[in-house]
Amino acid sequence: MHKGLAIYPGSFDPPTNGHLDLIERGAKIFEELVVAILRNPEKTPMFSVGERLGMLRELTAGLKHVRIATFDGLMVEYAKSLGATCILRGIRAISDYEYELQMALMNRKLEPTLETVFMMPADKYSYISSRLVREVAQAGGPVKGLVPEVVEQKLREKIVLPKREPRYVEVSDRTGFAGKKLDPKGTKRKKKA
Ligand code: PNS
Repeated sequence: MHKGLAIYPGSFDPPTNGHLDLIERGAKIFEELVVAILRNPEKTPMFSVGERLGMLRELTAGLKHVRIATFDGLMVEYAKSLGATCILRGIRAISDYEYELQMALMNRKLEPTLETVFMMPADKYSYISSRLVREVAQAGGPVKGLVPEVVEQKLREKIVLPKREPRYVEVSDRTGFAGKKLDPKGTKRKKKA
């Protein structure tokens, strides 16, 4: 185990199974791990900072050396104020690498004493991102297996989709095709007699 404190900063909007996997891995390596949620006034998140804090606290309640916090401003300054020696970040695929490398080098320029450590989540989570989870959930798709159950429940509460049947319209064309096509506006639906 590495002596000292590491910070795992991020947006966590919402926390995913990939984040949780990384927290569990980080907790095994670092003596203390602070999961730090960025308070970003420029972005309109799906979940408030308070909601994300609550979810992450619940999810990590069993992990003794993990604390959840929030920060604003420069991450390295917050990390220094905690006495952190490492920044933990997850890398899922090569596509993450460029952005993460740039951020790690900028953070090193800002604070050379802080070391960025990259860890990979389990490969079964390598395609999961908060952005895609939000997109799937907002379109009414299933998020089971992508996020912990508490987050799944919160997503369900947040996104109240109007109940509707799939809308189809009878069609036929010059090629002789006859069948049903989706009628997104539902304008062609036949009224019941
Ligand atoms: O989960 P995310 O959105 O990829 O996390 C990005 C985060 C919060 C780690 C990064 O945007 C950050 O540290 N922001 C705080 C401001 C800062 O220090 N910017 C310089 C980073 S090089």
